[in-house]
Amino acid sequence: MDTDDREMRSNRVVIGLSGASGAIYGVRVLETLAAMPDLEVHLIVTEAARTLVPQETGRSLEEVQDLADKVWDSRRMESPLASGSFLVDAMAVVPCSISTVAKVAHGIGDTLLTRACAVSLKERRRLVIVAREMPLSTVDLRNLTTLSEAGAVVAVASPSFYTGPETVDDLVDLVAGRVIQLMGLDPGPLLKRYVP
Ligand SMILES: Cc1cc2nc3c(=O)[nH]c(=O)nc-3n(C[C@H](O)[C@H](O)[C@H](O)COP(=O)(O)O)c2cc1C
Repeated sequence: MDTDDREMRSNRVVIGLSGASGAIYGVRVLETLAAMPDLEVHLIVTEAARTLVPQETGRSLEEVQDLADKVWDSRRMESPLASGSFLVDAMAVVPCSISTVAKVAHGIGDTLLTRACAVSLKERRRLVIVAREMPLSTVDLRNLTTLSEAGAVVAVASPSFYTGPETVDDLVDLVAGRVIQLMGLDPGPLLKRYVP
């Protein structure tokens, strides 16, 4: 779903880092967005992600947060991102935990991250949910369907192999590149495309 004619482009995007495995996907998205001129990147980090990001990536939370222009603690609601009057072009939760999926699918906005997702849905803005869990229960599948029906783009963290990735970095780039593309931005060389 596009930011439509009712809203001017703000050149502002939101990235949510939740406590699902796959923090490296979010970090790669942040690194790529940081290099884009004139783009204001807001980052929301959940309580669970504060522990998981350093554990999985070997990078300090501060190092990761430095990739964004503005950083918001998901435990605190005092942020313009809690309001629909603050314009953003797109939001992605990458990786998105199944807990956050469930909350957003049921209209629960009890953290800044879940509230910002709810705002994206009600304002009909582009919301990319990169769910990371394996396997998925019927409950998870229903919640993801609800999000899709509500206008979100559900993008599981599942890289393709037809471009011949050779390293873990290549696989991470493929997912991160697709996420950026789904946000309506140009991922550049990060996303290798299929050449038959
Ligand atoms: C090491 C570790 C890995 C986890 N991986 C996942 C995961 O891949 N997917 C998921 O949905 N939850 C995962 N969880 C559980 C979430 O962190 C937990 O449900 C948390 O409450 C999510 O909160 P948040 O969505 O606010 O970040 C993991 C937890 C730990 C400690």
